[in-house]
Amino acid sequence: MPPKLISHLFPCLIFVTLLLLTLYFNLLSHTQPSSPSPPCNLFKGKWVLDPTRQPLYNHTCPFHRNAWNCLKSQRQNMGLINSWKWVPESCTLPRVDPTRFLGLMRNRNIGFVGDSLNENFLVSFLCVLRVADMGAKKWKRKGAWKGAYFPKFNVTVAYHRAVLLAKYKWQPKQSMVGDQGGLKGIHRVDVDIPADDWVNITDFYDVLVFNTGHWWGYDKFPKERPLVFYHAGQPISPPLEMLDGLKLVLENMVSYIQKKFPSKTLKFWRLQSPRHFYGGEWNQNGSCLFNEPLKESQQQWCEQRSKVSESSD
Ligand SMILES: *[C@@H]1O[C@H](CO)[C@@H](O)[C@H](O)[C@H]1NC(C)=O
Ligand SMILES: *[C@@H]1O[C@H](CO)[C@@H](O)[C@H](O)[C@H]1NC(C)=O
Ligand SMILES: *[C@@H]1O[C@H](CO)[C@@H](O)[C@H](O)[C@H]1NC(C)=O
Ligand SMILES: *[C@@H]1O[C@H](CO)[C@@H](O)[C@H](O)[C@H]1NC(C)=O
Repeated sequence: MPPKLISHLFPCLIFVTLLLLTLYFNLLSHTQPSSPSPPCNLFKGKWVLDPTRQPLYNHTCPFHRNAWNCLKSQRQNMGLINSWKWVPESCTLPRVDPTRFLGLMRNRNIGFVGDSLNENFLVSFLCVLRVADMGAKKWKRKGAWKGAYFPKFNVTVAYHRAVLLAKYKWQPKQSMVGDQGGLKGIHRVDVDIPADDWVNITDFYDVLVFNTGHWWGYDKFPKERPLVFYHAGQPISPPLEMLDGLKLVLENMVSYIQKKFPSKTLKFWRLQSPRHFYGGEWNQNGSCLFNEPLKESQQQWCEQRSKVSESSD
């Protein structure tokens, strides 16, 4: 069985969504037809500690899951953590201005579809935007897991939880015949069918951010409860390994998105960020002790990733 693959699947980009949205914000706000300079690469840069930097919101923001509210739980060194800012190498990246952003997005909707990485981003994003509209209301329609409506601007921002993107369902073992290697059942994944949580949003959002990643691992789906991939209602034979299943799901979901969503919908694919539990997994006493970005030397997952793609391409 491959070792922990989950953290190694995708390229080495941290907080990509933030950057993408900021990019979008910049595109919207600096429409300068006269500017001939090539677009600056916002992703090339580094994290810089700026002690004067203050968060835009505090623990009273109502959009957190309580258990995930680091401010409320008084996680140590929040001040330090909140002082990091991303500084691109050769352009200035202004901090998002919630009023300006929502003004530019007036009468438009932004959706996130994927796993908790997208949810984390959404929560922080909602709290930032709420600064410009304290009348923000919780919003959970069309299959959304959570979200908010900003009445001043008529903007909805929401997250649809679909950890594998494709539809999947637990099916307990039917027959009691034999031990079947300790098999307790299967997770049936229909590689060509999107999860229910986002089938009804095709016309609703103007901007969509998709992701998947951390669930494609044997900690989430161990051998006794494996992912079994189906296509057109039939089990794929011979059965696919997890990463081949991921590849097929991605191909199918991307083609679904291209077919079903209007071409004017702005679509982003958000990549993976590393997990950084220390002293165990998230459910085995692991803690997030770090207050600073990973150093280049700690990013072995970059190499891992190229190994993964080399071996699977
Ligand atoms: C938290 O933020 C709210 C809304 O911006 C503000 O009214 C309140 O004074 C802040 N509370 C603290 C303790 O800073
Ligand atoms: C709010 O935005 C939606 C599009 O998201 C639009 O259909 C609707 O007419 C807008 N409502 C108002 C009052 O402008
Ligand atoms: C999607 O919307 C249709 C029409 O409103 C509804 O019948 C259907 O149950 C919805 N599907 C899901 C999975 O929510
Ligand atoms: C987690 O820590 C508690 C208390 O120290 C201990 O009882 C428990 O066995 C630990 N669990 C794991 C999975 O290490």
